[in-house]
Amino acid sequence: MSLFKSLDSAFIDGEWIKSSDTSIFPVFNPASLESITQVPNCTKNDAIKAIESAKIAFRNHAKTSAFERSNWLMQWYTAIEDNKAALAELVTQESGKPLAEAIAEVQYAASFFQWFAESIKRPQGEIISPSTTNKRLMTIKQPIGVVAGITPWNFPIAMLAKKVAPAIAAGCSFVLKPAAETPLSALALAKLSKQTDLPKGLFNVVTSTHSADIGDVFTTHEFIKKITFTGSTEVGKKLLAQSADTIKSTSMELGGNAPFIIFDDADLDTAVDGLMVSKFRNSGQTCVCANRVFVHNALMEDFLQKLTDKVNLLSVGNGLDEGSTIGPLINQNGFDKVATLVQAAIEQGATCLVGGKPHNKGGTYFEPTILTGVTDSMAITQTEIFGPVVPVLSFTDETDVIARANDTPYGLAAYFFSQNLNRVFRVSEQLKAGIIGINEGMISHANVPFGGVKASGIGREGADVGLEAYLETKSLCIGNVA
Ligand code: SIN
Repeated sequence: MSLFKSLDSAFIDGEWIKSSDTSIFPVFNPASLESITQVPNCTKNDAIKAIESAKIAFRNHAKTSAFERSNWLMQWYTAIEDNKAALAELVTQESGKPLAEAIAEVQYAASFFQWFAESIKRPQGEIISPSTTNKRLMTIKQPIGVVAGITPWNFPIAMLAKKVAPAIAAGCSFVLKPAAETPLSALALAKLSKQTDLPKGLFNVVTSTHSADIGDVFTTHEFIKKITFTGSTEVGKKLLAQSADTIKSTSMELGGNAPFIIFDDADLDTAVDGLMVSKFRNSGQTCVCANRVFVHNALMEDFLQKLTDKVNLLSVGNGLDEGSTIGPLINQNGFDKVATLVQAAIEQGATCLVGGKPHNKGGTYFEPTILTGVTDSMAITQTEIFGPVVPVLSFTDETDVIARANDTPYGLAAYFFSQNLNRVFRVSEQLKAGIIGINEGMISHANVPFGGVKASGIGREGADVGLEAYLETKSLCIGNVA
């Protein structure tokens, strides 16, 4: 852990800096609610300084080769892998998630560095068949410019990896504002960048609680050519509106309300295992968590028994304690939201089969919960819960359940379980979501496009399309070729 012991400064132009008004803010461990450390509470001026440094770095390194950038990313990847245990401990300390999940997150983060280090070496651009014999047509790809990123607390290292790695691969420079709840993983990544040949100024980290102010600078500054954001739909809409004046490219990974459908021809054990992963990863605090679980009537009794057996095996506790599988919720607001949604559902007629209340460990721990008799109109099925709660709804008809699954403004992830090949294609094509898990609860990979439709966002991260998001396509039209 020593490498990451004193993460108490922001990172601008390759230097560790204090905020321009010298203010600081504490970072809390959600497991103990104690302060871990304090970091600079950067101001608008600090954000501007970071953008200016990123602009100079972008200009200075405009002519680097793809192979050179690939090397930086591979060095970064190796540094992350070499420090995996310490990074995972840091992720658990600031986010509360169980250590095993933090290790998986660090590996997931590293995989973006590796993937984009490799993919930038592949051909970019294309040769186009000319429409007349005296022309030659082609496209080339160029970096978009200075990128600003705003990342959430639920995956403090992976969410920034999926933005920073492709941006650097493409030849962009990056200014990051990590969530105020979890700035340390971003600073650790900055520290590891010092072990690579990455030139100064290409990666900057601005820590701050002044989210609106920093967002304002990012969306209005003329040097910023792209905004990439993961977070709530509400904030995403604001950033989009603010970015309009300077016509910025945007990638928005926003909220979800994932349906999880278990058809009568599903393998029930596989479905319950998939649900445990999809629902309880990070205590239910992921944008792709199963939020509404539709179970065919014929399977309901067996399903509830199998699910109850598994949920009773979950162990709530400090993520650093061996055996803990469910950590605390991130903060009091997150806890209050979950408690209120569960209480309201019970008052409106839902039955609590397991859990349903704050855990006796206190703090922001909430009991893993199963609610039955839930309906489509309850707040719990219309809101992204972000907690360890399974709301169970029943259905009998395929057409009807697809309509209900799609009846939400959101469209990030959707899951269904069926052994019928025709149904697999039929349902996949009809569900309105960007990512579909079929007989699978774990859907996130660096080499698979990740993103949503409708109010869940714009653009995709990961895979080739995730690199494309940081490149401009330029068409070359060569005429009068003899
Ligand atoms: C998210 O919750 O925003 C992303 C989760 C993931 O990448 O698996």
